[in-house]
Amino acid sequence: MAIERTISIIKPDAVGKDVIGEIYSRFEKGGLKIIAAKMKHLSKADAEGFYAVHKERPFFGDLVEFMTSGPVMIQVLEGEDAVSKNRELMGATNPAEADAGTIRADFAQSIDENAVHGSDSLENAQIETDYFFSADEICPRTR
Ligand code: PPS
Repeated sequence: MAIERTISIIKPDAVGKDVIGEIYSRFEKGGLKIIAAKMKHLSKADAEGFYAVHKERPFFGDLVEFMTSGPVMIQVLEGEDAVSKNRELMGATNPAEADAGTIRADFAQSIDENAVHGSDSLENAQIETDYFFSADEICPRTR
């Protein structure tokens, strides 16, 4: 297995429910180390840029409105198979279809407000990391 990095975003609904700590605990227990983190209230331009690949989809406007409705917590996670491990911990996009015990099953209400984002590939993880973090904001573990 390879050591990878991925991007996680705790979305405004989950930040508003005060479950950042519980979600971080799942990352840490799942072998994913937090090596960068920032809280940010995304601007409309931030959200539109981040989700640009989805701009033709019918829910794009609602997604941007939701993602700018309150602060988000953005982190770089590092660990074995981090991209797929994070998505396993997150559960399915639609919380109604998410496996029991996953973040979305436990903390998300609907497909519109589904608690967390995770990069879907290593390539996108790098693009998303560069979107939110400069190199000097990433702190690989030394112990
Ligand atoms: S995924 O997980 O990226 O493959 O899911 P996908 O279906 O491609 O959805 C892309 C992102 O859009 C969000 N989404 C929605 N938002 C609002 N309303 C509806 N109906 C909806 N369907 C999907 C979904 O949560 C994905 O956001 P991220 O932040 O990537 O999880």
